[in-house]
Amino acid sequence: MKRILEADSPAPSDPTFSRAVVDWQKQHGRHALPWQGTRDAYRIWLSEIMLQQTQVAAVIPYYARFLLRFPDVATLAAAPAEDVMAHWSGLGYYTRARNLHGCAKRVMELYGGVFPSDPLLLAELPGIGRSTAAAISAFAYGTRAAILDGNVKRVFARVFGVEGYPGEKRIEDALWLQAVALLPADSADAQMSAYTQGLMDLGATLCTRSRPECQRCPLQPRCIAFATDRVDELPLRKPKKTLREKSTAMLVISDGSHVLLEQRPDSGIWGGLLSLPEIALNGEPALAHAALQLSTARFGVAASVEKLLPFTHSFTHFKLHVSPYKVVLARRLNEVGERAHVWLDIGRIAEAPLPAPVKKLLLALFTEGRLI
Ligand code: ADE
Ligand code: SF4
Repeated sequence: MKRILEADSPAPSDPTFSRAVVDWQKQHGRHALPWQGTRDAYRIWLSEIMLQQTQVAAVIPYYARFLLRFPDVATLAAAPAEDVMAHWSGLGYYTRARNLHGCAKRVMELYGGVFPSDPLLLAELPGIGRSTAAAISAFAYGTRAAILDGNVKRVFARVFGVEGYPGEKRIEDALWLQAVALLPADSADAQMSAYTQGLMDLGATLCTRSRPECQRCPLQPRCIAFATDRVDELPLRKPKKTLREKSTAMLVISDGSHVLLEQRPDSGIWGGLLSLPEIALNGEPALAHAALQLSTARFGVAASVEKLLPFTHSFTHFKLHVSPYKVVLARRLNEVGERAHVWLDIGRIAEAPLPAPVKKLLLALFTEGRLI
């Protein structure tokens, strides 16, 4: 697989990249959004905070109402918190509103009501992360600073064929290096805001999560995902932490009045509890049956073996498919082997430290005296 973006070595800068984005933005990007066509950092900041977790269409009416009530940073800073919250009500993610109010107060205290142009200073204010700081600074002051929000990550992951999950620190760091390397070399004001808006517009209008419009995309000639037919696979989704499904056979070995239990290891699922002896199932049912005969022989002479109804138990990270087998011993060997095995009196199942699904299975089998 072709890998252009290595985590440790960002691609060198490429002036044709930003040129393609800027040219496309000027012709095909969005130009009539309410927060465009202003250099007022307050208005730009407010829009960027509202747009952090909310779609453009939902933001527009809130943005207008908010600005009517709080036309500048001084008015917002001086307003009661309830008033600010009331104007945010319905947008969701209310931490944003509390941070917004806090940020307005800080801008009054620290900067006399003027948002600083340095993205590093902006990023120290409440609610403003690295990408938002860069966007505000680029739009309001023409600063040469890189953005990397969720949409831009998706565009970069596709264009550069990034083989990792963009939420992973190592990959995100590499994407940031890439984002910085690709900035227009010449930071002429208009250029920076067209470039920044262009990346956002590409992610929001063409390079969408599902069914991107590659045929209209200015980056198509250089897009690795497009060239390798991997647009649907990139960016990679969050890797799954554990195996999603496991299968096991549980042995209900009984002599009629006792059931054989096994102490589980301290770590892992059901750590430290007593449970039924298990045989890991790796496919082949015939083999499982042979293994069952073998392991049962250690405990006694089997009079009957019966397959019980399988069930599935769901944990947070995986599902356990359980095939229980009922084994009745004609004769029980008292020596129960090397591991921590115990013969539990079936009358004590209810109070034994057993995993819930195991206890349920045993109670169903034994309380009605069906096993004997
Ligand atoms: N999402 C975040 N910032 C945006 C902006 N300035 N325009 C459109 N969508 C955005
Ligand atoms: Fe996204 Fe398609 Fe453009 Fe590649 S060609 S950047 S996948 S829209």
